[in-house]
Amino acid sequence: MILVTGGAGYIGSHVCMALLDAGLDVVALDNLSNSNQASLQRVQSLCGRSLVFRHADIRNEEAIYDILRACGVSAVIHLAGLKAVGDSSVRPMTYYENNVLGTMRLISAMRKAHVKTLVFSSSATVYGVPTYLPLDEQHPLGPTNPYGRTKLFIEEMLKDLYRSDDEWRLGILRYFNPVGAHESGLIGEDPVGVPNNLVPFVAQVAIGKQEKLKICGNDYDTPDGTGIRDYIHVVDLASGHLSVLSHLKQPGVLTLNLGTGNGNSVLEVIRTFEAVSGRPIPYEIGERRAGDVAICYADPTLAGETLGWQSTRSLAQMCADHWRWQLNNPCGYRGT
Ligand code: NAD
Ligand code: WQD
Repeated sequence: MILVTGGAGYIGSHVCMALLDAGLDVVALDNLSNSNQASLQRVQSLCGRSLVFRHADIRNEEAIYDILRACGVSAVIHLAGLKAVGDSSVRPMTYYENNVLGTMRLISAMRKAHVKTLVFSSSATVYGVPTYLPLDEQHPLGPTNPYGRTKLFIEEMLKDLYRSDDEWRLGILRYFNPVGAHESGLIGEDPVGVPNNLVPFVAQVAIGKQEKLKICGNDYDTPDGTGIRDYIHVVDLASGHLSVLSHLKQPGVLTLNLGTGNGNSVLEVIRTFEAVSGRPIPYEIGERRAGDVAICYADPTLAGETLGWQSTRSLAQMCADHWRWQLNNPCGYRGT
């Protein structure tokens, strides 16, 4: 039985789907602070298998311990966390409490329950401003916002945990920019309020929920002046979790980038989304967003060599799948 924390969320629901599809049993835990349980109902009807859902908070050590024991959990995929970069500067202590303290409580419960296999959702944000590209796992770390620092501190904590007890099997996955949705159009990203991230915002412009996109700067040192990122299809990302889980048979700490190795500019994303949706994406050029870097993309070689994993879906597929989800669910899960 695999415990997925944050299982009702955007990436979590796709991870649950991948695990169930692979024949594994799943208990999904979530406090539903940024998600809707409907995502997991859809996951179950999509794959024709059921999972166990527990409405719980990772900061509640006792509740986690009970779930680990009662469900016979053998490994944890830990995605629960707060993730809004801007918000993390406004209320940093909330992020440290939720992400760092929450992870400490989770680990404590795991130790007591003798569950010592953990896959953790880290982020490319731990690299901060790139000093060279593409970003490999050896690149110096230096996040530029509190959210990123919660990820870095948790990474360091996990490494210390292994140094103190070499029975742990730890996977640290640094995601680049997850976008897209399951090809069924039934599960996808359901942001609360105005989306912070590019692709969800573009999708809401396409469907008419937002009037136009503001491009955050077109004076970067890139071919078209707009920021370049490594967008990765959420289904490819989810399959990376399955690969790492089957690889964590030996104790150790495995830190891997999950990205495509390709960079695309904001304008390329807009053009691709327009092409697959057939809808115009009006935009205006605005100021640079504080903390943004010009270019960020992964060197995914290590994940390829270690796991035999690589992303397979193109930017056009990411946009097409994201669009199908948006079109079928204009109000996200709240419309159900
Ligand atoms: P999400 O908000 O959709 O999912 C996170 C889930 O965790 C939500 O369902 C939320 O309700 C739950 N949660 C939050 N705090 C909790 C707590 N204390 N106890 C129990 N549940 C809690 O976000 P996502 O995009 O699916 O991200 C999943 C993970 O991946 C996060 O840790 C995030 O930091 C990380 N990540 C995301 C991205 C991205 O761009 N989406 C990139 C890199 C890393
Ligand atoms: C992508 C590009 C923007 C919005 C964030 C987090 C990172 C990780 C992934 C969690 C940039 C531009 C955006 C808009 C725009 N999350 N943009 N107009 O900033 O690369 O990464 O999500 O770990 O930590 O920082 O992604 O989608 O916000 O931006 O022009 O309205 O789109 O400037 O170049 P980002 P994003």
